[in-house]
Amino acid sequence: MPRRLTPVLVTTLLGSGIAQAQTDVPVQLPAFKEGQYVHEAPTVDDLMQDESINPELRKVILRGRDMFINTQQFRDEYVFNDLNCKNCHMGEGRLNWSGPVWPAATTLPDFRGKNQHVNSLEERIAGCFSFSMNGKPPEYGSDDMLALAAYHQWLAKKAPVYETNIGGRGFSHLGREMPAETSYEGGEQVYREHCARCHGTDGQGVRLSEQTVFPPLWGDGSYNWGAGMTRVFTAASFIKNNMPLGKPGSLSDQQAWDVALFINSHERPQDPRYTGDARETREKFNNFHKFTMYGTEFNGQVLGQHDNTGTKPFLKPDALRPRSFE
Ligand code: HEC
Ligand code: HEC
Repeated sequence: MPRRLTPVLVTTLLGSGIAQAQTDVPVQLPAFKEGQYVHEAPTVDDLMQDESINPELRKVILRGRDMFINTQQFRDEYVFNDLNCKNCHMGEGRLNWSGPVWPAATTLPDFRGKNQHVNSLEERIAGCFSFSMNGKPPEYGSDDMLALAAYHQWLAKKAPVYETNIGGRGFSHLGREMPAETSYEGGEQVYREHCARCHGTDGQGVRLSEQTVFPPLWGDGSYNWGAGMTRVFTAASFIKNNMPLGKPGSLSDQQAWDVALFINSHERPQDPRYTGDARETREKFNNFHKFTMYGTEFNGQVLGQHDNTGTKPFLKPDALRPRSFE
């Protein structure tokens, strides 16, 4: 199934003057499995032409889209790193194999293993603010949360509710089992050859006029130790199907695993669920951290054993509370 770079992405790149974007590159993506629901999320052109959408609703959806693309406008309010939602959910959250976000609107409320209770769409969005953006979510029920939720819901237009056999969902195409031969050194080499020219030799990406052109992959500007992307399999699948930008599918599976291990063996802000001890936190959230390098020893240091929460002045946002129905 060929995929083309979106015009928005290309404009960003050309605007930066740093990288030469290759437009119209046909890319190699995995095949959909028999029986899977495959969704074609609507585009902003569809939104502008859809007369069944009330103009007031259209404004709210456009506001949500703007928040998703330029999340940095909420720097130090909801977001305390350099990322925008669309940096990981590419094509404005629409692209298959790049964690399309609309399934959250059709499959929630549902039980979520990560926090062991039934989650709403708002709570799922809150999760990415708390971990991937190293921040805190807009208040549940607020105008900002409504706008983001509306954007997700609209992207899901015409998708069946509670259908979970979805083609191109998430980032786990390579499976969860890291191959035994996966190597940090191999990853360092892949990184130097295929990634450093955009993300920087130091992994810190490129920022211009307070906007992220190339997002950082580790350090204070990147996702924290509780983010889904710290799982090596998640990063490996994301990279395999989306990176290097413009040439997705060009790395071998092993190169994707290696470079994912390399990136995720670097320091980043603390997991908001930190107990004060990284090994203990790893154990406590083992169903998640068994896929990460957090709390393991690397170069004589235990990864994640520190009090650095990045630029945010708190560890865990209040929104991340447990919920039960006894
Ligand atoms: C650092 C990368 C990253 C960033 C930035 C990020 N996310 Fe995510 N997001 C993920 C990962 C990883 C998953 C889990 C996908 C999986 O299950 O494999 C996810 C899942 C989701 C889902 C659930 C999708 C589904 O299939 O149910 C939603 C909704 C979502 N993110 C919304 C957001 C929003 C809104 C933002 C910005 C506030 C954001 N994300 C920023 C990495 C990111
Ligand atoms: C031509 C420039 C370019 C190259 C080369 C490139 N990237 Fe990216 N990368 C980007 C851009 C731009 C984004 C954000 C995508 C968006 O916003 O649509 C991104 C996003 C990412 C993300 C998710 C966001 C984050 O900060 O965690 C990861 C992980 C990533 N790249 C890893 C890699 C790896 C690994 C390689 C090498 C195999 C690589 N990239 C090569 C430009 C590049």
